[in-house]
Formats: sequence, C-alpha cells, structure tokens
Amino acid sequence: MTGSENGTANRWDSDAYDGGHSFVFEYGEDVVALLEPQAGERILDLGCGTGHLSARIATSGADVVGIDSSTEMIAQARERYPDPEFIDADARSVAFEEPFDAVFSNAALHWIPEQDAVLESVAAALVPGGRFVAELGGAGNVAAIVEAVREVAADGGYEVTSPWYFPTIGEYAGRMESHGLETRYASLFDRPTELEDGANGLANWLDMFGDSLLAPIPERERPELIDAVEDRLREDHYREGTWIADYRRLRVVAVKTGMSSGESVGT
Ligand code: BEZ
Repeated sequence: MTGSENGTANRWDSDAYDGGHSFVFEYGEDVVALLEPQAGERILDLGCGTGHLSARIATSGADVVGIDSSTEMIAQARERYPDPEFIDADARSVAFEEPFDAVFSNAALHWIPEQDAVLESVAAALVPGGRFVAELGGAGNVAAIVEAVREVAADGGYEVTSPWYFPTIGEYAGRMESHGLETRYASLFDRPTELEDGANGLANWLDMFGDSLLAPIPERERPELIDAVEDRLREDHYREGTWIADYRRLRVVAVKTGMSSGESVGT
C-alpha cells in the first residue's frame, strides 16, 4: 500500500515501511482470506506496495499482477518476490488487455481522492461476475490523530486538512454501484492499532505517512508540533509504552454486474 497517487510515496522509504509498519500487511492477511483466491485465477493487487500480499495471494496458485505507482516499492517487490508480475502503474488510469477474475486492494485506496477514476479502472479490469475485495480506511479513521494535528497546527497559525479519503459504507457502496460493482458485503469497524517502536511509534507514523497532512507546517517546526500532538493524545492513545492509532477499516466485497448508474435489471 502506498500514498503514491498523491505523489507522496514516491519519496517513501520502502525499508522503513517494511521494518516499522509491518502491521499494514499483517492485518492484510484477513483481507486475503476474504478474497479466497483460487488456483488458476487471474488476480490484480491494486496498490501492492512492496508485494507481500501479492506474494501471499500467489501461494494459492493464482496468477497475480501487483501494481503501485511508487517506483521504489515496485523495485523492492520485484527483487523480493520473483513470482507475481509487478508493474509501476497509476490505479486511476491503468488498463489491461487481459481481464482479471478479481481485484484486491489493502490499505491503499484511501490515498486516492479520485476514487471514481479508480473504480472505473477496477470495473474495466474485471470479467463480468468478477469480484472486487478491498479494505481501506473508513469514516472516522485516525480522526483523533488528525484532530490533534489540526488543533496544534491552528495554535501555530497553520491550517491543516486531512488528505485522505475515508468513506462511509453508504458513500462507498453508492460509488461502487455507479461503476457497475454490486455490493455483496460491507463492514465498517474500529481496529485500534498498536504502532511499532514504543515511545517513537506516533512520531514514526507521522514521519512515514503524514507528509501531506503536515504539508503546511515548515519542516523545522515539525518536531515541536509532533511533541505537542503527543501531549494531546497521550492520555487516550498511549498504553504501557505503546502508541495506539484509532484506525477504522472499511471492508467491501463487490461483484461486477455489467450495469452502471442509470441502468437497472429491468432496462
Ligand atoms: C490507514 O491505513 O488507515 C492509513 C495509513 C496511513 C495514513 C492514513 C491512514
């Protein structure tokens, strides 16, 4: 998963991502279980990052293609996993000659504000009846962190807005349906997530993922801002030496029906 579509992840350190934030792909195992990949299926992993889950899906015997627009992440995925095909591509505009039985995505879609373009790519990539299985941040995801950053930044005269797309079930189901993807399952749930590296966990998280959130704050002022954010969050989000991020996940399964908005079964 990457923040690549907004240009951030092309500067990400893929070693730091794998080393300090491995919970991202560890939790993704549950989404692979929901996908139920079968031998011989052709599966697209959208926003594959360093390829761990693409490789995991490929162990089923499926033929997997992973895409990500971070060149560095794709290079690392290719080096580590020889089996899946990895392509440096933008989910908003990618197109394939051969369709897929399923499109999978874990912790990537919330980086892309142009969600209609993504869902158009997803629908175009699928065979009729093909499935879309995805998890992304849902409504309210990391709200406490964003609010703390917003308040501290405002005290310093800076206006911060969330760069991420965290939809409700209703919003996302409607969007999928308008692209001919019929919702079969949707769940929005809290998943408080322990950040790695003890007392440094929140600062590391902001360092890795918060570049666009912190964009209005000059680099030299960020350490002080992060200290103040930690002070605001410590009471509710720091337990026994570990920071806990207020993650909320939106998990969906949809099937390509061949119909898009304006059409109905009777037409
Ligand atoms: C997430 O996986 O929910 C997430 C990761 C980084 C920034 C924002 C959200």
